[in-house]
This record gives sequence, C-alpha cells and structure tokens, in this order.
Amino acid sequence: MPQHFDDRPIGVFDSGVGGLTVLAELRRRLPAEPTLYLGDNARAPYGPRPADEVLRFTLEAADLLLAQDVKLLVIACNTATARALDEVRRRSSVPVIGVIRPGALAAAAATRTRNVGVIATAGTVESGAYHEAIVEADAATQVAQLACPELVPMVEAGILDGRRAESVLRAYLEPMLAADPDIDTLLLGCTHYPLLRAPIERIVGDGVAVVDSAFTTALAVEDLLDALGARASGVEADAMHRVATTGDVAAFVSVAERLFGERLPAVEAVEIEPMPALPLD
Ligand code: DGL
Repeated sequence: MPQHFDDRPIGVFDSGVGGLTVLAELRRRLPAEPTLYLGDNARAPYGPRPADEVLRFTLEAADLLLAQDVKLLVIACNTATARALDEVRRRSSVPVIGVIRPGALAAAAATRTRNVGVIATAGTVESGAYHEAIVEADAATQVAQLACPELVPMVEAGILDGRRAESVLRAYLEPMLAADPDIDTLLLGCTHYPLLRAPIERIVGDGVAVVDSAFTTALAVEDLLDALGARASGVEADAMHRVATTGDVAAFVSVAERLFGERLPAVEAVEIEPMPALPLD
C-alpha cells in the first residue's frame, strides 16, 4: 500500500501555558510532527467562567487554529474539554481530541485502592466530566474531586514552587487526603497543574501516585494519526513548531522556557476580542 503523509501541524489549544505540558509530551512522543500551539492567556483563567463563555472562547480558539490548516486539534485544557469538546467536534472539519478521557484512563490504571482524588478547576469539577469518565473506565472506583481556583492564576504568574506555592497547595491537598485516606492516586485534572508537580509530590508523599493526562493524550494522538495514515513525513520544515498567545508575549515566554528548558521559537501575538470580566467570587 502506498504510504501517505500529512505534514500539516497538530493544533494544540489551552487557556494559557498549561497545555504546554501536553505539547511537551506530544513533541517527545512524536518528534516528527509539526505543532501549532495557541494559549488564550488574555482570557485565562477559564475555570471560574460560566460554561457558555468557555464554550464560546473554545470555539473561537478552534476556529483560529482551523484557519491555519491544522490536521488535528488537541484541546489541551480540561475546562475547555469538559465544556466544549462535543460542540467543537460537531463543527470541526478535522478530528478533535480532549484531555479528560486520557486523564481518566491514566488514573484508573494507576489506582490500586480504587480511590482517586481529582484536583481541577471549578468549571471542570462542576461539569462532573472526570467523575463520569473514571467511573466509565472502572465503575468500582471512588472519585473525590476538589476545585483549586488559586492554582491557575499562580502558574500563569510563574509561581511554580517555593513557600507560596507550597502553602497554597497544602491548604488544598492536606484536608483532601485527610478526609479520604484511601486515596492512592491524585489526578492533576488541569493541564496547568503538572507545572506544580514537584511541590505536589512532596506534599502527598510516596504513598500517592500523581498522574496527569499528558502521556495518555499523546498516545491517543499517535493512535489516531496511525489510524488516519496521517503522520508527518519527518522532513525538517521551517517553523516546525509555532507558538502563539492572545496575552503578554514576554510573560508567556518566561513560563514556557522554564518548562521546556530551551528557547522557544518566536512567540506570535494573536489579537482576540477584549476580555469579559470574570464572575465575582
Ligand atoms: N489548563 C486549563 C485546564 O486544564 C486551565 C483552565 C483555566 O484557565 O482555568 O483546565
């Protein structure tokens, strides 16, 4: 059979820098694939926003990426996946992968006690999407969910470890684990949270496995590309990896470079309509 290649980029979207944790895993697993990342930093966080607003923002981001002729869309944001995956799929001309099912499968595979803790944004917790996806993977698993609204703004501000990160994380995690001592697996149900993995692992200790959706999402993308016969040819192209943000380019670059430990390609600025106010607490 003749071999087909598709050298169009994989589009990756998040509300901000969090989806870079998924992009990093995609690039490790699929080094020949060109990528195009869009962070909607100007309108992050998505977690506290009403469901219809997250849906609208996600559809706008998907349109921006589709206009760049991507071959596949990865919604590397749990909140956007929970609120918008079905609708983006309905409207998209290319396949769309979210991060919730991959995250749920990672957690269901890791737990021995069948007690999983999920930390996520308020929007993701409220949607119930993780509860549903984990129970679908294993109906006997107990799921305790906790919304952690302080974490995304902290990561977007570049605070990834140290005294402040540690105390904010302790205030969330210690009561959760004390209330549910059988939890042996903590699922980072927001793609920003792996950037806080070091302090999270210190706080939960060796008895709790910390898992996220990055690896299993990359596997899902790989399987899909193979099923479609749509892998890239592996010929080094100019601008293999493009990164764009709707927010402040310098702030984006500083967090992103700490994550990747390398200089990013020039980050592009994308214009988006002004940010509607966040709902008050
Ligand atoms: N990375 C997004 C997620 O996985 C964060 C959403 C937000 O901006 O609050 O949910």
